[in-house]
Amino acid sequence: MDVLIVGSGGREHAIAASVAKSSKVNKIYCAPGNAGIGQIAECVDIGAMEFDRLAAFAKEKAIGLTIVGMDDPLVGGIVDVFEAEGLRVFGPRKNAAILEGSKAFSKDLMKKYHIPTAAYENFDDANKALAYLETASFPIVLKADGLALGKGVLICNTVEEAKQGVQSIMLDKQFGAAGNCMVIEEFMTGREVSVLSYVDGKTIKTMTSAQDHKRAKDGDQGLNTGGMGTFSPSPFYTPEIDAFCQEHIYQPTVDAMAAEGRPFQGIIFFGLMLTQNGPKVLEYNARFGDPEAQVVLPRMKNDIIEVMEACIDGRLDEIDLQFEKNAAVCVVLASDGYPVKYEKGFEIHGLEHFENKEGYYCFHAGTKLDANNKFVTNGGRVLGVTAKGADLKQARENAYLATEWIEFDNKYMRHDIGSAILEQ
Ligand code: AMP
Ligand code: GLY
Repeated sequence: MDVLIVGSGGREHAIAASVAKSSKVNKIYCAPGNAGIGQIAECVDIGAMEFDRLAAFAKEKAIGLTIVGMDDPLVGGIVDVFEAEGLRVFGPRKNAAILEGSKAFSKDLMKKYHIPTAAYENFDDANKALAYLETASFPIVLKADGLALGKGVLICNTVEEAKQGVQSIMLDKQFGAAGNCMVIEEFMTGREVSVLSYVDGKTIKTMTSAQDHKRAKDGDQGLNTGGMGTFSPSPFYTPEIDAFCQEHIYQPTVDAMAAEGRPFQGIIFFGLMLTQNGPKVLEYNARFGDPEAQVVLPRMKNDIIEVMEACIDGRLDEIDLQFEKNAAVCVVLASDGYPVKYEKGFEIHGLEHFENKEGYYCFHAGTKLDANNKFVTNGGRVLGVTAKGADLKQARENAYLATEWIEFDNKYMRHDIGSAILEQ
C-alpha cells in the first residue's frame, strides 16, 4: 500500500524510516515533510491543518493508511474528517485526542478513575485562581489548559510569581485560547519517564521507556524547549514500576476513555514522574513524543504498519510487541539561540556519513533544500542524531561521536544527554 504521514519534524522522519522498513509499503508521502524526509518519501506541499486538502490527496492517490504524527491536527479532528471520507487513518478521533488537547479534561478523568496524578484545581475564572493562590503552598505548577507548543507550564516558587503566571496565561493570553482555562497543581519531584503505547480502544501495549531532556542548556538549565535529546530505555523504569503503571495507570486510562464514550485508538504517551509515593501522571499526549520517537522506533522489531492496522481494527491483543535489548541515544543539533531567536539558512555538511551506517540515524527536524539543492538549516531544532549501542553508555558514546560528523554554522547541542546513565 501507499502511506501518507502528516507532519514535518524529527518524529515524522523517524516514523517514515520505520514505515520504509515495512514489507507492506510501496510508496510513502509526507505532508508537508522536510528535506530529510524527502529522501525516503515524496513531500507534498499541504499543511497539517488543511484537512480537506489532505483527505482529497489521500483519495486521489488511493492512500492505504494515513499516519498523523502531530498533536494539532489530531486535537483539531483530522481523524474524524478522514473517517467520514472512508479513509483509513491512524490516530485518535477528536473526542479522544482531548486527552492531550485539554489538561483540565485529563485531570478530571484521572481524578474520576483514581489514576495517580498531582493534586489540582481547574479554573476558568482568573479571580478565583488568584484567590486560590493566597492559601496554596509553594512551589506550585500552573498549566494552560490547551495546546501551547509544550510551553504552557509554569513552575512558580512564590505567590507573586504565581499571580504573575495567572495574569499572563488567563488575562494576557500568552498562549492564546489555550489559556481560557487553567490547571493549578501540586509540585512533584522525582525522575521523569516517557512511556509511549499503542492502543486499539480497549487493549494497550506499551513500548520501551525513554527520557527526554526538555531544557535548553546543560545541567537542565535554561528555557524549556521541544526537547534537546532523549535516551531509551530509562534505567529508572524498573519492572516493578512497570507492573504498577500497567495496573494503576495504563489500562485504567484506556478503560476510562472507553467508559466515557471516547474510545482511544492511536498512541498514548504517558509523561510520568517517579515520585517517592510511586509513579504519577504528569501529562498525557495523544501521539509519539518528539524526540522520544527517535530513540524508541529504531529499537522496535515489529512491522509498524501491522501494529497500526491492528490498532485500527481492534486486534492489538494479537500483536506481540518486541523491542531490541539494546539502547539508543538521540542528541538534538539545534541552531544557537533556540528556543528564543536563531538564524536559519546555513549549509549542513556531513550528512553522507550516516548513509548505510547500521545503528546510526540522522533524523531531520528543521532542514530544507536551498536553490542549489543543498541541505540548509531551517528551524531551531535542526537534526536529531541517534545511535544505538549495546547499552546506554555505548549508545551515548556512539551518538556523541556521530554529532561530530555534522557541521553547520551556529550548531548547538547539549553535552549531557543521558548523563543520568553515567551517574549510576
Ligand atoms: P507537561 O507539559 O505537563 O509535561 O509539563 C512540562 C514539564 O513541566 C514536565 O516535563 C515537568 O518537568 C514539569 N512539570 C509538569 N507538571 C509538574 C508537576 N506537577 N510537578 C513538577 N513538575 C512538573
Ligand atoms: N518530548 C516531549 C513531547 O513530545 O511532548
